[in-house]
Amino acid sequence: MSFARLGEPLPGGLLDDGERLTSEELKELQLTRLQATLQHAYENVEPYRKKFDDAGVKPGDCRSLEDLARFPFTTKADLRDSYPYGMFAVPMSDVRRIHASSGTTGRPTVVGYTENDLSMWADVVARSIRAAGGRPGHKVHISYGYGLFTGGLGAHGGAERAGCTVIPASGGMTARQVQLIQDFKPEIIMVTPSYMLTLLDEFERQGVDPRSSSLEVGIFGAEPWTEEMRREIEERMDIHAVDIYGLSEVIGPGVAQECVDTKDGLHVWEDHFYPEIVDPLTHDALPDGESGELVFTSLTKEALPVIRYHTRDLTRLLPGTARPAFRRIEKITGRCDDMIILRGVNVFPTQIEEIVLRTPGVAPHFRIELRRRGRMDHMTVLVEAEPSAGPSLREAAALAVAQGVKDGVGVSVEVTVVDHDTLERSLGKLRRVKDMRAQ
Ligand code: DLL
Repeated sequence: MSFARLGEPLPGGLLDDGERLTSEELKELQLTRLQATLQHAYENVEPYRKKFDDAGVKPGDCRSLEDLARFPFTTKADLRDSYPYGMFAVPMSDVRRIHASSGTTGRPTVVGYTENDLSMWADVVARSIRAAGGRPGHKVHISYGYGLFTGGLGAHGGAERAGCTVIPASGGMTARQVQLIQDFKPEIIMVTPSYMLTLLDEFERQGVDPRSSSLEVGIFGAEPWTEEMRREIEERMDIHAVDIYGLSEVIGPGVAQECVDTKDGLHVWEDHFYPEIVDPLTHDALPDGESGELVFTSLTKEALPVIRYHTRDLTRLLPGTARPAFRRIEKITGRCDDMIILRGVNVFPTQIEEIVLRTPGVAPHFRIELRRRGRMDHMTVLVEAEPSAGPSLREAAALAVAQGVKDGVGVSVEVTVVDHDTLERSLGKLRRVKDMRAQ
């Protein structure tokens, strides 16, 4: 690959103060910030005050990082119950921006940012872009949606802060995006991995070799994706593909980022977001290295401090590598909510993705449909054939995917290979599962 600067150690001058902390200094800073956050939440947010009182804890009870485990959790339901502004910790006149995540049902979750919050957010996204190989002067094409979704504007603020030139394309108008990439020659693209696949297909449709584009790095997130998907995108596009993680309630994109030189999971920017892993059912804290649900406490947020917020995302904490003081999270397998329980077996869409992407004859586009037949749940995987695949290859691919799922996941599914270009393409976050079991 042509990006000479990638793989070279980050010049010292490009590390920010937080990245230079030793583990001991980080822990000290985390405790000071945690104590201040607990105090801020207790004093200014009625629902937190009530929760703390009900649990019999006061902010002053937090004397070490371990003491955080004594404090109550926060969930999406807490935010919804206080819709829209009930958990804001500052007067509305200090709130500079609102974002909201629509979710699938019910009211959206509303999040707010002060001037300082927006600045901290730009700092952590800028840090993420640098970890991905971005440098001042690079052009960053942003195809995350702009609007209430945090993806577009979050990436935007960070890319500007990193000294890059922003191309604010937003999502949609796929043919035009390809044209813009051809004409403006960005080095970096920030987009969901599923929309990257849509863009890749569009390059090919326009007869343009995606490997010849100016792009050198893709910073992909907002939905789960696999190592197989990384390989697919890196090969077809001749770029480095790295993972960015975040969620609106915690800040947006830029909570954790994979470094391009190691591609070994995502460093959590722990000077601002304190991670824990808990058992998804019992909520007991789990030690580093064990898989469970990721929980975050914000350490510097003003408008919407979050205390032990249940992300519903499943992963585990690993020691730091490229940024030694910051622990990593393993690539996220999925959300507790995405887990399909099929005749007693737990299935994640990412497991199906791995199998589809390594099967010859089919494209990386698939959907999962769930139906009830009699008293049994039934899963159909719809996979698109590659344009050149004839009937026998299609049949072999269907068998191979079904066998792969049987062997790898331990459950029988029906696989239907559909014609090329018949499954709806992603324009942002992709919903892969259609659940018709209640119909
Ligand atoms: O998706 C923020 C974001 C934008 C992150 C752009 C990265 C890039 P929400 O809409 O609130 O915020 O959705 C958050 O998306 O809890 C995860 O389930 C999922 N998610 C985000 N990043 C990743 C990732 C944005 N890298 C929810 N891998 C989170 C897997 C991810 N899942």
